[in-house]
Amino acid sequence: MNRRSFLHGALAAGAISGRARAADQSGRRLRTALIGAGWWGGNVLGEAIASRQCEIVGICDVDQRAVNPTVEKVTRLNGDRPRKYRDFREMLDREKPEIVIVTTPDHWHALCTIAAVRAGAHVYVDKPTAHTIGESQAMVRAARSHGRVVQVGTHRRTSPHMIQARDFIRGGGVGTVGMVRCHLNAGGTGPEQPLPTVAVPPELDWDLWCGPAPLRQFNGGDPSQPDAGAGTRGIHPRGHRQYLDYANGYLGDAGIHWFDLVLWITGEKWPRRIHSTGGRPVRGKPVLTPTEQTSDAPDHQVVHYGFESLTMTWESRLFGGNGAERGDVAAANFYGTKGTLHLGYRGGWTFYPADGGAARHEPARLNDPDGQNIRELWADFLDAIKTGRRPVSDIEEGHRSTNCSLLGMISYRLGRSIEWDGVKEVIPGDAAANQLLRRAYRKGWEYPA
Ligand SMILES: NC(=O)c1ccc[n+]([C@@H]2O[C@H](COP(=O)([O-])OP(=O)(O)OC[C@H]3O[C@@H](n4cnc5c(N)ncnc54)[C@H](O)[C@@H]3O)[C@@H](O)[C@H]2O)c1
Repeated sequence: MNRRSFLHGALAAGAISGRARAADQSGRRLRTALIGAGWWGGNVLGEAIASRQCEIVGICDVDQRAVNPTVEKVTRLNGDRPRKYRDFREMLDREKPEIVIVTTPDHWHALCTIAAVRAGAHVYVDKPTAHTIGESQAMVRAARSHGRVVQVGTHRRTSPHMIQARDFIRGGGVGTVGMVRCHLNAGGTGPEQPLPTVAVPPELDWDLWCGPAPLRQFNGGDPSQPDAGAGTRGIHPRGHRQYLDYANGYLGDAGIHWFDLVLWITGEKWPRRIHSTGGRPVRGKPVLTPTEQTSDAPDHQVVHYGFESLTMTWESRLFGGNGAERGDVAAANFYGTKGTLHLGYRGGWTFYPADGGAARHEPARLNDPDGQNIRELWADFLDAIKTGRRPVSDIEEGHRSTNCSLLGMISYRLGRSIEWDGVKEVIPGDAAANQLLRRAYRKGWEYPA
C-alpha cells in the first residue's frame, strides 16, 4: 500500500459521492484536524471524509512533503481546503478543532493527545497509546478531566468477524480458555547493514519530529514517494517502529493489537507477572555513530504474561519466514477445553474442536486499503461524541492493552521478571523497574504529569 492510494479505499467503496460535502443531521460537520499525515494518518483521514460528518480544517506534519499531497487530496475529494501546519500547537490554537486525529509516531502520541483534549477536542489516537506507561496514564487522566472522547485506533474491536469470534469464545464455544499464544513472524534476512547519516531535507523539521525523544542522526527518505518507508530501515517515514527511542519494536507496534483482543474477549484487565527474553542475534548489535546507524529493537522477542485466569505468550521474529505456520504473519490462538480458536491476521478465524470434529471457519471482513476496520471504529467514535458514551476502544482500555506491550519491554530491558499491580499501576517494591515507567524528555519538553 503506498500513501498515494490513501482515501481511494473509501472512494472505491462508494463512501464518498463525488465532491459532495455532506453534513450530519444538524447540518454542520465537525471541525476535524490531522496531526501526522503519513501512511496510517491517510487511512484514518479517508474514513473521516467518507463519514461525511467531518470538515477537514487543518493538516499538520513536520514534513511538508507529507502535508502538501494530503491537503491536495482532501480538496480533490470533498472540496475542503484545510490549512497547512508544521506545529500542532499552532494548529490547535488557530483552528480550534472539535476532532483531532493523532497519527504521529508513538513518541508523540501523549503530548499531542493531551494538548488536543486540553484545547477542547475529541481525539482519535492511534495505537499504541504511548511510548511509556506514565505518558499513557497521563492521557487517561487528561481525557477524563476534560470530559473528551478519546478513541484508540484498535480497529479490530469493530471488525465484524472479530466480534463474532468474541461472542463465540464468550459464549463458551472454546470452553475454559487456559492459554493464549500471540505471534508475529515478519520474515527478514540476516545482519542489518547500517544506513548512512544523510542531510535533513529542507521540507522536514527533524528537531520537531524527534521532539521530546532523543535527537538521532537522520537516515530517512521521502514520504511523498510511492511505498516510502515500507520495508526500508530509515527512521522516517514509517521506520520508527524499530528504533526504541521512538517506539517499542514489534511488541509495541503489533503486540498491542493482539493484547487488546485478548483483554476485550476474555475480560482480563492486566497481567500480574511478566517475563521477557529476546535480542538481536541475527540483526547484530545496534550501531549508532555520527555517520551511520542501525535500528535497535530486538530481532526476536518472547514474553510470558501471567493473568489471573490464563497465561498469554507473545513471540515476534524477524527471520526464518513462517512456512511452518502455513504463512500466518500474525495470529492469536485461544486454547480452551473444547478446542483451539485460531484468530488470523487477515484470514478470519477457525475453530478446531478438541474432539477432532470438523473445523469451523469464518472469513475476515476487512476494508481497503490495508485490510482494516477503521470505518466502523470511526462510526463508533462519532456516535460516542454525539451520545456522550464511552467509545469501544476507549483510552482507558487502549491504555491497559498498551501496558501489556510496555511492561514486556520493561522486563526485556531489565533482563528479568517483573510483577504488576494493575490497581495502583506500579511494579511493587521494584525501584529499578518503576523508573522505566517514565523516561527523561529532551530539553524544552515536559513529561506529562
Ligand atoms: N491501527 C493500526 O492498525 C495502525 C497501522 C499502522 C500504523 N499505526 C500507527 O500510526 C502511527 C503512524 O504510523 P505510520 O506508519 O503512519 O508512520 P509514518 O511515518 O508514515 O507517519 C507519521 C507521520 O507523523 C509525522 N510527524 C512526526 N512528528 C510529528 C509532529 N510532532 N507533528 C506532526 N506530525 C509529525 C511524520 O513526519 C510522518 O509524516 C504509529 O503510531 C502507528 O503505530 C496504526
